Amino acid sequence: MSALIERKTGDRQSIAIETTDAARFAASKRRLTAAQRRWLTDCGFDATPGTFALIADESGKLIRVLVGVDTGDVLSSLGALPRTLPEAVYHLADEGVPKDTLQIALGWALGAYEFTRYRKARRAPARLAIAAAELDVLAPLVEATTQVRDLVNTPTEDMGPKHLADAVKRLGKAHKGKVREWVGDELLDANFPTIHAVGRASHRAPRLIELNWGKTSDPKLAVIGKGVCFDTGGLDLKPADGMRWMKKDMGGAAHAIALAGLIMQAKLPVRLTLLIPAVENAVSGAAMRPGEVITTRAGITVEVDNTDAEGRLVLCDAITYASEQKPDLIVDFATLTGAARIALGPDLPALFGNRDDLAERVLAAGREVNDPLWRLPLWRPYRKMLESYLADMANSGASRHAGAITAALYLERFVPETTAWLHLDTYAWNDGDRPGRPRGGEALGLRAFFAFLQQRYS
Ligand code: BES
Ligand code: ZN
Ligand code: ZN
Repeated sequence: MSALIERKTGDRQSIAIETTDAARFAASKRRLTAAQRRWLTDCGFDATPGTFALIADESGKLIRVLVGVDTGDVLSSLGALPRTLPEAVYHLADEGVPKDTLQIALGWALGAYEFTRYRKARRAPARLAIAAAELDVLAPLVEATTQVRDLVNTPTEDMGPKHLADAVKRLGKAHKGKVREWVGDELLDANFPTIHAVGRASHRAPRLIELNWGKTSDPKLAVIGKGVCFDTGGLDLKPADGMRWMKKDMGGAAHAIALAGLIMQAKLPVRLTLLIPAVENAVSGAAMRPGEVITTRAGITVEVDNTDAEGRLVLCDAITYASEQKPDLIVDFATLTGAARIALGPDLPALFGNRDDLAERVLAAGREVNDPLWRLPLWRPYRKMLESYLADMANSGASRHAGAITAALYLERFVPETTAWLHLDTYAWNDGDRPGRPRGGEALGLRAFFAFLQQRYS
């Protein structure tokens, strides 16, 4: 953390950053010397969002940085700075715009990230010093985002089902939560047939990981994440370009783990159950075949129409298990469908929910914390697309229409009507480098859900 943002001290050694826009820049020129004005003119600085200019005093010492910001997108306006400004400690000048230093500092910290497990950092990031109270709010969010990015960026060989279990165990240790798991055939004995079926082809055993934390008298909250550590598609094998990035198919698990960490760190008054079905959707002689029928934990029989629609299979038994505890709310995160990306693109996760008021509140929370989501409908008539000719339902159908919706409708079948449920179909990834959004694993919807849960439970 100290590498990204740090606690502001009385020491004025740090360099001022003045966030500005065209109008303010014109007005603020009065505060500059003639030489500094000339320098800025010669550099062509006009406060365009995303640009910056360095200002020196008469001795040539760097004393101030002017940064053009788009007040409508503060996160990305500041996101490039930690990797472009000279390595030093900076602070935000009082004259800056907008006044929301939390969002500015968040953009800074998100942009400072680099995944350094397999190679050295290209450079040390410039650091931003902020007030202690702001750092207390921000540090957990930055840490959680970093955790999601690191988990997702880690290749499958180093991020298999067991590694996800290790991550949950570390979390349990840190917050005195109880962790248990069912591994391999234990899944069959304990009646988690779909998780076993999806993961049984891999040389690394499938597992269901559970963490419990909090007072049993508090409202029960279940957080579930799709932990498909690699999705080959199974026997319905993905083509090479569709498989290339499928190490990220545990992105939902990464979100769920990070959210659980935030909940426990904030000591939200909930009885938390974190559930991670962790598998590899692999190909081998033991692989589940298209056309097989699985009797799910709920007793609903499912025909495997497509082995590549595996996410909903591992999630459905976890959802059934969660609902047996009669929770106040179930939330699940999953890189569930390509169709959600076709509908909303990579940056907007698709939100589904069986309670309109709750879904609306998550959307509102997302707007408040600059972590946008978009809602798609649980359009019941499309259930028809999941009809099977011999089982209660199929895991996919002949039509690719409304793929994100039919996947959500599949999951909804496993949620009792009396249980509130929210489902996020997220991409968990940045295809390219953008300011504040480095290429690779990304947390999308994490801050929105945490803000929503804080509002609901405190
Ligand atoms: N993990 C994929 C979905 C995915 C693909 C997410 C690309 C993000 C990027 C999922 O398991 C899958 O393969 N879904 C299929 C479902 C289909 C077979 C019904 C899909 O979306 O094509
Ligand atoms: Zn798949
Ligand atoms: Zn998948």
